[in-house]
Amino acid sequence: MACPCLNCSLISPFRPAVRGVNAARKFLSCLLLVFAVFPIAPAQAQARPAASLQGPSPTVIQGGIADPSLGPKVEALLRKMTLEEKVGQLVQYSAGQATGPGTGRTDYKDMIGKGQIGALFNITKARDSNAFQRIAVEQSRLRVPLLFGLDVIHGFRTEFPIPLGLASTWNPVLVEKAARVAAREASATGIRWTFSPMVDIARDARWGRMAEGAGEDPFLGSAMAVAYVRGYQGSRLDAPDSIAACVKHYVGYGAAEGGRDYNTTEISEPTLRQIYLPPFRSAVDAGTASIMSGFNALNGIPASANAFTLKQILRKEWGFQGIVDSDWTSVAELIPHGIANDGATAARRAFLAGVDMDMVSSLYHDHLAHLVQTGQVPEAAVDQAVRNVLRVKFALGLFEHPYVDETKEDAAMLRPDYLQIARDAAEQSFVLLKNSAGPGGAPLLPLSKTVGKVALIGPLANDSANMLGCWGALGRAEDVTSFQTALLAYLGNESVLSSKGTGISEGSDQEMADAIATAQKSDLVILALGENAPEMTGEAASRSKLGLPGRQQELLEKIVATGKPVVLVLFSGRPLTLPWAFENVQAVLAAWFPGVQAGPALVRTLFGESNPSGKLVVSWPRSVGQEPLYYNALSTGRPANQQNGDPKFVSRYLDEQNSPQFPFGYGLSYTSFRYGPTEIGSKQLKAANLNAGLRTAKDVALTVTASVTNTGQRAGEEVVQLYIRLQGTSVVQPVRALKGFERMTLAPGETKSVRFSLSPDAFAIWNDHNQLAVEPARVTVWVSPDSAHGTPADLEIVP
Ligand code: NOJ
Repeated sequence: MACPCLNCSLISPFRPAVRGVNAARKFLSCLLLVFAVFPIAPAQAQARPAASLQGPSPTVIQGGIADPSLGPKVEALLRKMTLEEKVGQLVQYSAGQATGPGTGRTDYKDMIGKGQIGALFNITKARDSNAFQRIAVEQSRLRVPLLFGLDVIHGFRTEFPIPLGLASTWNPVLVEKAARVAAREASATGIRWTFSPMVDIARDARWGRMAEGAGEDPFLGSAMAVAYVRGYQGSRLDAPDSIAACVKHYVGYGAAEGGRDYNTTEISEPTLRQIYLPPFRSAVDAGTASIMSGFNALNGIPASANAFTLKQILRKEWGFQGIVDSDWTSVAELIPHGIANDGATAARRAFLAGVDMDMVSSLYHDHLAHLVQTGQVPEAAVDQAVRNVLRVKFALGLFEHPYVDETKEDAAMLRPDYLQIARDAAEQSFVLLKNSAGPGGAPLLPLSKTVGKVALIGPLANDSANMLGCWGALGRAEDVTSFQTALLAYLGNESVLSSKGTGISEGSDQEMADAIATAQKSDLVILALGENAPEMTGEAASRSKLGLPGRQQELLEKIVATGKPVVLVLFSGRPLTLPWAFENVQAVLAAWFPGVQAGPALVRTLFGESNPSGKLVVSWPRSVGQEPLYYNALSTGRPANQQNGDPKFVSRYLDEQNSPQFPFGYGLSYTSFRYGPTEIGSKQLKAANLNAGLRTAKDVALTVTASVTNTGQRAGEEVVQLYIRLQGTSVVQPVRALKGFERMTLAPGETKSVRFSLSPDAFAIWNDHNQLAVEPARVTVWVSPDSAHGTPADLEIVP
């Protein structure tokens, strides 16, 4: 059967050799693309993570790390290795721009020649990776090639929106394409391993790394995790343009107390199983080649020494066969954590808990062989870790093709089709937060080309570097088309006035005065405000205040005081608490950090050539005191919204509402959508039947349908969401939990029916017997535009 997609070669090039499971996966991914373009809403088109909570890993992927042909090759090589050479495979150093505190070691060439290094990272040029590889392949005794890694997080040279923005597209097909582009560019320099995706659930906007993930929801997070893994790894890992994914940071890192990066975490097992683990599980089922263990202590045991999560769950329950890599010096950090008093103990504890490879801290190099020789670590455990590493190297085809073609490196970057995907991704990532009446009484956006003189004001108006986001990889400021450049090109020089107004963190009175004068000369002001991407978002960038930095709030208020209509475009790696802006500014667009196509995407969106369709993947707080804030919270015994209760003795703040400024799943469009009632295929389900069907993806437990009508004047895309709530279970469940979503396009006046098929897993919980089970419960189901609306439908799960 012919592949149905329109641009097959971009997602995963058709290869006659791809057969069986791969061909089926490939075909399915093409089908998904087609249904994203023509959303007729069949069940197959719906976003469903590959797996949910628990159970044996169902997939064996040919061409991936589970390919049975790898075993004999691994064993044959392992048999030839000395203990020192085995340990060498478990050692990894950074040999380029450091992305963490250094360890002072630089004798890599010598070590590689002796077979003492298995992987290097932060090398970004083909000639450099080839030079290091030559030492490994030509000078080391067993010629085991090195694995080269890099943080390719949201693009390599073609930078896409930050992951929080990519997730806001609610479009896994598009995210898979972006990851595929990143793989193609990175692999052209010899990089065959990316430390991505970050699938940590982020419930607290103070945590800077919220920017790097898919937000607060495990279902959406799982869909995104799968999309990245498929995009990076392609249909076969040994294709020269495929790179191994590394899913991180296993596990619970996003629950850092107080939102302070690297801080400790306390997570109950039901919450771990239902909220934090599912995206990792889905990535494992999608075939991720590696996983990174986190910095955080989880319930008192550091994640990089946690045998429960690394051995019991990851290896035994999920059957993971790839590499567990430590995070940067997280093995050495067991000492300041307080569970090891010296390097040898730290190495032993991390290794025995299941960390295969030691990133940067050098403690495996220093101590592992001696630990084996003194009987403190069994050599069989070292063999197993080496197997995990060699399996990935063989799967990548590194033994057959250790080098990269240096002459093809430059041509591999920034291709026009890549830029098109970057622009699509940026446009779909924008979330329209507010769009109230402008001077004519109609919503201020979209703007007309004849709007008159537009003043573009703010520190991010003509900024290119920040558009590259928190992990720019090889992105260059000169690759970015800035907002101002694009606006000038669109409207012409005579129609655009510009002024900085203030810097991001500081500004002068003169700059402020110039901006006000500029605004006064205009017919409309676009303000480009927000955070500094590399300094204020991402790693080590937690904030305790979530307003606009520096004098930007003052600038905003002064510009609004001119009485001109104002559009506020926010650039940030997290939601910002801006109640004044949401009260006083007519239109607000959350643009995150949009990547190289920032300018064109913004101009097309503000002037209506593209209709916003992004939806929030994190609850937008009104004030910092609400954090951690997430829609899928557990109910309390005294919920604030209870009927007829005493209004004082309920779970609430005296000085703030409980509800967010904007809920998870929220986002406006230039058109409007009306939802019909939620309709369910059955009023009663049997727990026994559902339990029997757990983790057999083929079973449909419940169908849910609703009609959606475009009631406005423009075509638009809507992300339709499905939520459920379970009451009466043995363990308290979230007040709502996302179980399905679908992006659909609707012409003006058009009505489409959306149909979701829920598998038994959708109703499973981690119960009071520490088991995955479906329990008798009252179930509420909503098909809705966000997590706070929709008409409920009720059913029951009976024993
Ligand atoms: C530390 C970060 O936590 C991790 O995400 C990253 O991949 C490594 N440094 C390597 O740069």
